[in-house]
Amino acid sequence: MTTSLIGGCRLIPLVRRGDRRGSLVAMERDKDVPFEILRAYAVFDTGPGVPRGNHAHHACRQLALSVTGRCRMVLDDGKSRQDVWLDDPTKGLLIEPMVWHEMHEFSSDNVLLVLADMPYDEADYIRDYDNFMALARA
Ligand code: TYD
Repeated sequence: MTTSLIGGCRLIPLVRRGDRRGSLVAMERDKDVPFEILRAYAVFDTGPGVPRGNHAHHACRQLALSVTGRCRMVLDDGKSRQDVWLDDPTKGLLIEPMVWHEMHEFSSDNVLLVLADMPYDEADYIRDYDNFMALARA
């Protein structure tokens, strides 16, 4: 069941296709991912106690999941904050534009896979929280 979160974000359940050989999760456009996938990146080897993210996007939509291990995602839509643990490869987190997000408490084995609907573009980032809040209030 899809779970609605703040800022239009959602937890999208992915199907674990397991058999005696192990497990597999697929992410397919329109079935699981509500956008055209133009980029994928993986975050790994994050040091203990190191936060990442700390930004929002003007336009980019992303789907994030922990392939292995876990991390805590903090979502902030300028009105409230919400914690989401990404601790299972079947939990896909859709992060919408104009949602400030931070990742904390990475386990040492965490591999965070992120799918995005835009190529990397630094101009799409809002990296200053006060600037984000001003834009979110406007
Ligand atoms: P950064 O946005 O700081 O990572 P995070 O949001 O996880 O804290 O990105 C780290 C570096 O990687 C930075 O130099 C930009 C670069 N980068 C790319 O080249 N392509 C990408 O798709 C992403 C997400 C980052």
